[in-house]
Amino acid sequence: MRAFITGGAGFIGSHLADALIARGDTVIILDNMSTGSQVNIAHLEGTITVHSGDIRDAALVNKLVEESDIVFHMAAALGVKNIMEHTIESIDRNFNGSEVVLNAATKHNKRIIIASTSEIYGKNPNQPLHEESDRVVGAPQKIRWTYADAKALEEAVAHTLHKTHGLKVTTVRFFNTVGPRQTGQYGMVVPRFIQAALNNEDIIIYDDGSQSRVFCHVADAVRAILTLADTDSTIGDYFNVGGTGETTIKELATQIIERTNSQSQIRHIAYTEAYPAGFEDMQRRVPDINKIKKTIGWEPTHTLDSIIDSVAAHLKK
Ligand SMILES: NC(=O)c1ccc[n+]([C@@H]2O[C@H](COP(=O)([O-])OP(=O)(O)OC[C@H]3O[C@@H](n4cnc5c(N)ncnc54)[C@H](O)[C@@H]3O)[C@@H](O)[C@H]2O)c1
Repeated sequence: MRAFITGGAGFIGSHLADALIARGDTVIILDNMSTGSQVNIAHLEGTITVHSGDIRDAALVNKLVEESDIVFHMAAALGVKNIMEHTIESIDRNFNGSEVVLNAATKHNKRIIIASTSEIYGKNPNQPLHEESDRVVGAPQKIRWTYADAKALEEAVAHTLHKTHGLKVTTVRFFNTVGPRQTGQYGMVVPRFIQAALNNEDIIIYDDGSQSRVFCHVADAVRAILTLADTDSTIGDYFNVGGTGETTIKELATQIIERTNSQSQIRHIAYTEAYPAGFEDMQRRVPDINKIKKTIGWEPTHTLDSIIDSVAAHLKK
C-alpha cells in the first residue's frame, strides 16, 4: 500500500512511517520541517520518499494524494508556546492547510486519517472526556484556544465532506502523546522535564503543579492509528486516543527525578512568566477511551515509568 503522510518528519508522523515501512508499505512524506526534522527520518533514507513543501500547496498535495492509497494527515502547527507566538500563521496552516488535504482526499476518493486533539474539549470540567463531550473554550482573545478552534473546524469540514461527498475519513483525537523524538522546544512537558532531569537542572513547573494529565506512548498511538485505518467500520467516526493513569504535573516531575536518579530541584513559576498574555490552562485532561476499546479492541500498554525510560534513553543518545 502507498501511504502518504503529511508531517511525516514530525514526532508522531515519523513513528508512523517506521511502522508502515516495517509492515512493507510504501511511504511518501510531505513536510515543511517547521517543527519536524530530517533527523527523525534519517534512518529511513532510501526506503521512503520525502517532499519538502507545504500542505497549503494544493497542486503538490493533489498530486501526492492521487498517487497514494491512503493519507495520514499529521501536519500541523502545534505546541502552546508556538501557537501563542505565531497565531495567524498557525490558524492558516491548521485550518486552510487541512482543508487542502481534505479536499484532495475527497476529489481522489482516498481513505484518510486526520489528527485532531484533546484540546478541542477545552476546559470542560466534566472528566473523563468522551467523544460527545462539549467543547468549553475561553474568549477568542484567549489565544491558546485558536489551535482547538482550527482543529475543531477541520473535524467539522471532514465530517461534512463525509456526509456530502462520501469522504472516507476517520478522526483521531490524541491526548498528550509522548515518546522518543518529541521535542521540548515548543512547551511539551515530558521531554522538557526529562531533559532538565538528565542535566540535573531545575525542573520548572508552571503554577502549583496540581493540574493533571494522562500520557500515552507514541507506539500505542501509532498502533491505534493503523488499526483504525485498517477498519472500514471506523469511516466517518471519531475516537479519543489516550493513555491511562492520571498524574499531576508535580507528581510527574517527582517521578521523573526518581526514575532518572537526578539531582534536579523543582521550581515553580507563574503562568504569566512562562506565556504571553492571553494564556489559560485546563486543570484536568482525562480521556475516556471506551469507544476505541469497544470498536477495535485497542488499549494502551505503556505505563508512565516505561514512557519516562524510553524518552530518557532517547535523550541520552
Ligand atoms: N503530540 C501530541 O501530544 C498531540 C496531541 C494532540 C494532537 N496532536 C496532533 O498530531 C499531529 C502530529 O503532531 P506531533 O506531535 O507529531 O507534532 P510535530 O510538530 O512533531 O509534527 C508536525 C509535523 O508537521 C510539519 N508541518 C507543520 N506545518 C506544516 C505545513 N504547513 N506543511 C507541511 N508540514 C508541516 C512539521 O514540520 C512537523 O514535522 C498534529 O496534527 C497534532 O496537532 C499531537
